[in-house]
Amino acid sequence: AKVAVLISGRGSNMAALLYAAKAADCPFEIVLVAANDPGAAGLVLAAAEGVATFAMSHKGLKRAEFDRIIDAEIRKAGAEYVALAGYMRLLSPEFVGKWEGRMLNIHPSLLPKYKGLDTHKRALEAGDSHAGCSVHIVTAELDDGPVLGQTPVAILPGDTEDALAARILIAEHQLYSRVLAEYVQRDSQPEAILAQVRERAM
Ligand code: GRF
Repeated sequence: AKVAVLISGRGSNMAALLYAAKAADCPFEIVLVAANDPGAAGLVLAAAEGVATFAMSHKGLKRAEFDRIIDAEIRKAGAEYVALAGYMRLLSPEFVGKWEGRMLNIHPSLLPKYKGLDTHKRALEAGDSHAGCSVHIVTAELDDGPVLGQTPVAILPGDTEDALAARILIAEHQLYSRVLAEYVQRDSQPEAILAQVRERAM
């Protein structure tokens, strides 16, 4: 299956997907890495690995307008799925609708806990025993779609935000590659999932 990855920065999850895709039996390939920030570090890595890249700043463009440009690039690359990987921009409902059931996101918390930003800080402040990461289907609501997989990560005594984030990131890289592989191998987008996606959109 052909996958486009959207990033905004470092792109370590994108790199994890890209390297996972090099295994002979991996069911997905990365056909495009697109960024809404031309300075996103991940673009350099993707290009060096021979993957097509597209970068354009969203500044000065309406959300739906920018998303139409990204959508056109994704289609031109022949992608059937979209993987958000540290893409720090809300997507228009139109874009989300076009990729219904075919767009995944990784989020550094055990959803439904801690949607949005500062997840590690919030988990530490709450005194949770575990933080972690989740891969979910993208719906119009931020970090809200059906969860496809999660990895809990133990919080250690004396943990800092950075230390916790670094450990969760290791788990993210494993989880995203595994869940994406499982997801694209399904025969079709299961009606049960689409029903859940639609229910949340209402
Ligand atoms: C990851 O922690 C991801 O879960 C979050 O933003 C971070 C992106 O990191 N949404 P990277 O760009 O994949 O290295």
